[in-house]
Amino acid sequence: MFETSEINGMLFAWWGLEGRPPQWQLLDAPSAGTGWSDIEVRTLQFPGHPQETSENSVDIAHLSYIHGYGNVTNETPVTIEGPYLESRFGFATDRKIAKVVGMHLEVEAVANLSGLGYSYVEFTELTIGMDARLWVLATPVDGRLIDLSIVSQVREIRNPKRPIAGLAFLPRQMRAPIMNKIVSSLQVHDVKQDVVVWSRKQYVPRPRLVRSDGELMKYRAYCAQFYPEPGACQSAVR
Ligand SMILES: [Fe+2]
Repeated sequence: MFETSEINGMLFAWWGLEGRPPQWQLLDAPSAGTGWSDIEVRTLQFPGHPQETSENSVDIAHLSYIHGYGNVTNETPVTIEGPYLESRFGFATDRKIAKVVGMHLEVEAVANLSGLGYSYVEFTELTIGMDARLWVLATPVDGRLIDLSIVSQVREIRNPKRPIAGLAFLPRQMRAPIMNKIVSSLQVHDVKQDVVVWSRKQYVPRPRLVRSDGELMKYRAYCAQFYPEPGACQSAVR
């Protein structure tokens, strides 16, 4: 059985082991609408698994330890409904654009997973007043490699709350496309940091967790439903 859905110019297709019919539908993401930049797509290929890349949405502690973010918060528990998972978190980060211009970002994020391999994240940057969307899409290639596509989109920035990298001096229609390229580059940078960890992982049947691992086991229990045999959920330790 083959089923497709189209979201914001992207085409998604179901592929099931041994021809299994679709087990769930993608959650409706908002359509492009007016006032949003075009999507920016960057694809990285590396050895990995969709379960690991989606786990980033609940592995909140790694935002501090791997990416160096500050003020990391996740006061709302992860919610799960069948194949759908929602995780809310926040963080602050200081980044450099083109290794020159410093940029401080304070972000609130809501990540929605529809099964493994499809994460849709809405970001609100509080200090500029900027909304962004991010899709993190993992496609298995050959059993070892995955293609990870990072798709981003930024809403038109009418009145930036503060000057940032000359943004306020740009014509309004140029602000969102330029910020989208910056958002995309920052995401690619972060994924490359994650890849270093993923490439050194070891399988541990009963991983020992600490409190800061948060809701990892809840996530891994959620993952079990996507495997052919119940309980075949892959575990990995960092
Ligand atoms: Fe990460």
